[in-house]
Amino acid sequence: MTDTKKSIHGEWSSRFAFILAATGSAVGLGNIWKFPYITGENGGGAFVIVYLLCVLLIGIPIMMAETMLGRRSRQNPINTMVTLADEAGADKNWHYLGWMGVIAGFLILSYYSVIAGWASAYVLKALTGSFFGADAITIKGLFDHFMASPVQLTFWHSLFMLATMLIVVRGVNTGLEKAVRFLMPSLFVLLILMVAYAMTFDEYYDQGIKFLFTPDFSKLTANGVLTAMGHAFFTLSLGMGAIMIYGSYLPKDVSIAKTVYLIAGTDTVVALLAGIAIFPIVFAAGLEPASGPGLIFQTLPIAFGNMTGGWLFGILFFVMLVFAALSSSISLIEPAVAWLVENKDMSRQQACIWSGLITWLLGLGTIFSFNVWSGFKVFDRTIFQLLDYLTANLMLPIGGFCIAVFAGWIMKRQHTEHELDMPDALSYQVWRFLICYVSPTAVFFVFLHVVGVL
Ligand code: TRP
Repeated sequence: MTDTKKSIHGEWSSRFAFILAATGSAVGLGNIWKFPYITGENGGGAFVIVYLLCVLLIGIPIMMAETMLGRRSRQNPINTMVTLADEAGADKNWHYLGWMGVIAGFLILSYYSVIAGWASAYVLKALTGSFFGADAITIKGLFDHFMASPVQLTFWHSLFMLATMLIVVRGVNTGLEKAVRFLMPSLFVLLILMVAYAMTFDEYYDQGIKFLFTPDFSKLTANGVLTAMGHAFFTLSLGMGAIMIYGSYLPKDVSIAKTVYLIAGTDTVVALLAGIAIFPIVFAAGLEPASGPGLIFQTLPIAFGNMTGGWLFGILFFVMLVFAALSSSISLIEPAVAWLVENKDMSRQQACIWSGLITWLLGLGTIFSFNVWSGFKVFDRTIFQLLDYLTANLMLPIGGFCIAVFAGWIMKRQHTEHELDMPDALSYQVWRFLICYVSPTAVFFVFLHVVGVL
C-alpha cells in the first residue's frame, strides 16, 4: 500500500477539519440526550465510573485502531476489511465486520433521526414560547402530548432525514466539513451557560453532582455495566465504521493518537457537562432521574421557561442540539453511501436517496413505539428499545471487539506501527497492550457478566 493513496471521495482539508468532523460525529444526542437518561436509569455515580473506564481502556484504543484501518485502506468499511485482510494474508470473512457496521449505521440512524426530530420540534416550541412560566407538570404534559402523535413525530423525523441526506449528498469537503466547522464551538459555550444556570440551584446542584459522581455499586446491575460499555462505543461513534470512513479521508501526516485523545476528551467533557446541567433541574423539579428517553425534554424546558433570557437560551439550545445530531447522523450513513458509490456504481445522489429512504422507513418503527405500538414488545422491549439494545449494547461492542482483534492480532505489527506513527515507542507499546489484551478481554467479560456466567 502506498502512502500517496487517497480516497475517491476526497480528503479533509486539514487535521483540524478531521478533528471537527470526528468530534461532530462523536458529540451528539448520545452525550446530551442519552447519557443523562441512561445514567438516571442506572443509578448515577457507579454507572458513570464504569462508562469512564470503558472510554479510557476500550474506547480510546479502539478509536485509534478504527481511524488507522480507514486511513490505511482509504475505502468504505466493507472494502477496507477486504483489502486489509488480504494485505495481512487473513481470511476473507473479515468483510462481514464491514457489513455489520453498515447495517448498524442504518439501524441507529433510524431511531437517532426520530429523536433528533424531537429536538427539532422543540426548537419551534421554544420559539413560540410554549415553555414560558411552565412547571414540571405542564412540560411533561407537552411532551406526552407530542409523543402521542405519530403524525407530528413522522413530520419531524422526515425533516431531519431530509436535512441529513442534503448534507451527505454534497460530499466530504463541501457538505460534511462546512457543516461542523461552526456548530461544535457554539454548542460548547451554550452548555457551559446551562451549567452556570444549574449552579444557581444550590442544594439541588449539590444533589445533582452527588448523584453523578458518588458511586453506589449496589445500584449497578449486569445490564447496567453492559449499557455503560455500549454507551462508550455509541458516544465515540465506534464499532460500525463511522470513524473508519472518516479516517479514510484523513491526510497521511496527521498523528492519529493525539487527534484521538482530543476527540475522546471533548466528547467526555460534553457528556459530563450535560449531566451536570440536567440533574440539578431534575431534582429541583421533583422529577425521577429514571424518567427514560424523555428526560432532557421534560427537564430543560422547565429551566428555559423560568430563567431570565430563557426564551433565547431555549431556542439556541435546541438549535445546537439539532446541529450536534446532524453532524453525527451524517457519519452514521456515510459508510453505506460510500459503499453504494464504490461498489454499486451509483452516483452519490442515488446512493443518498436509497439509503435515506430505507432509514426513513425503519424510523417509523421507533415512532410507533411511543404511541400506537407502545404495547408491542419483543423480549419485553418496544421496537425503539430493541433497536437501541441491539445496536448500542450488542452490535457496536461486537464490532469493536473484532476491530481490536483485527488491529492487534491480524494486521502486521510493522504496518500498525507505521500507520499510527506514535511519538515514542512506549506509547505504541501501551496501545498494543490495550488493543491486544485489555479491550477485547473487557468486552468479552462484560458479555459473560450479562449472560450470567460471571
Ligand atoms: N456518537 C454519536 C452520539 O453520541 C452517535 C453516532 C454517530 C454513532 N455516529 C455513530 C454511534 C457511529 C455509533 C456509531 O450521539
